[in-house]
Amino acid sequence: MEHQVASLQERAAAELGAAGSLAVLESWHQRYLGRRGQLANLLRRVGQMPEQERPAFGRLVHGVQAALQAAYNDRAAVLQEQELLAHARQDRVDVTMPGRRPAQGALHPVTQVLREMQEAFLALGFQVWEGPEVESDRYNFELLNMPPHHPARGMQDTIYLDTPALHTGPGGAPAPGALLLRTHTSPNQVRIMRELQPPLRVVVPGKVYRYEQIDPSHNWMFSQCEGFAVDRHITLADLKGTIAAVLGHVFGPHRPLRFRCDYFPYVEPGVDTAVQCVLCAGAGCRLCKNTGWLEVMPAGMIHPNVLRNCGIDPQRYSGFAFGAGPDRIAAVRWQIEDIRHLYQGDLRFIRQFRSLMGRPG
Ligand code: PHE
Repeated sequence: MEHQVASLQERAAAELGAAGSLAVLESWHQRYLGRRGQLANLLRRVGQMPEQERPAFGRLVHGVQAALQAAYNDRAAVLQEQELLAHARQDRVDVTMPGRRPAQGALHPVTQVLREMQEAFLALGFQVWEGPEVESDRYNFELLNMPPHHPARGMQDTIYLDTPALHTGPGGAPAPGALLLRTHTSPNQVRIMRELQPPLRVVVPGKVYRYEQIDPSHNWMFSQCEGFAVDRHITLADLKGTIAAVLGHVFGPHRPLRFRCDYFPYVEPGVDTAVQCVLCAGAGCRLCKNTGWLEVMPAGMIHPNVLRNCGIDPQRYSGFAFGAGPDRIAAVRWQIEDIRHLYQGDLRFIRQFRSLMGRPG
């Protein structure tokens, strides 16, 4: 019997040394040390032995069991490490490989222009406000000195909301409560003047909507940036200085500006501001329609009627207002020949503005 145990131990040890993987090792364990393994079988035969031999035989087999278990543990540790290493070698990381570049977003050209304008306004002490895009006829027109049937309403073809009960006032005219998509950001002059007392210096950027026949230079939706100041002794010179500062910031300080008379019912006098054409420097070209000038900022002194509509005494206070067109400024600056591109969301168009964050000198 002892001889059998010794040769079993020898065989087991040899096989253990040859086991090349954890899987082979597991089957080895079952075969020799498992519950139905060869050592367990030997122990079961102890009952057939003469009584006095049993304890010694038991000790012998248990000793072999313990020795094989220890050898198994060592071998398992070695194989485990080998397999881990093999794994790591297989899916190793090449730290010298160039990384995947994260997709980089950029500001929309109109946003870039708006932010630059806001920088200039903030430096001059203006606050930035916002107002609703769905507006009432009263704020969009009436309180801005454009009662129903005022011919100047024709300057801004309007998209009314489908609320029929509201938009039939006397003679089929839009009722003051009729809702519409604001045609300009000017109603915010009224909203803010009714809420706050002068002195006021406010800009209100936002989208506006018109019932337009669209073409390369007209869109049914575009951006505006309203701005106004109300205080004692505000004059046309303040208007001119403010606009010059802002356009200087956006177009560069040396570009000539032109101020001319214009008409808007809510200002008196009305002014039209143009910058010298950025493409032909005044010589005349396609961009400026041969005029040498690009109109970018209608403005004027706030009409006394509008001040009165807002509870501000025109004898004590005066103010100026303007409505800049950031879309037009962006189109002019980057020579975008069709402003409809601005809102079509075509990435091929929009990506061109990634590296153009600087302003021209
Ligand atoms: N609201 C005018 C427009 O949309 C622009 C403007 C604003 C003119 C303020 C004068 C003063 O055309």
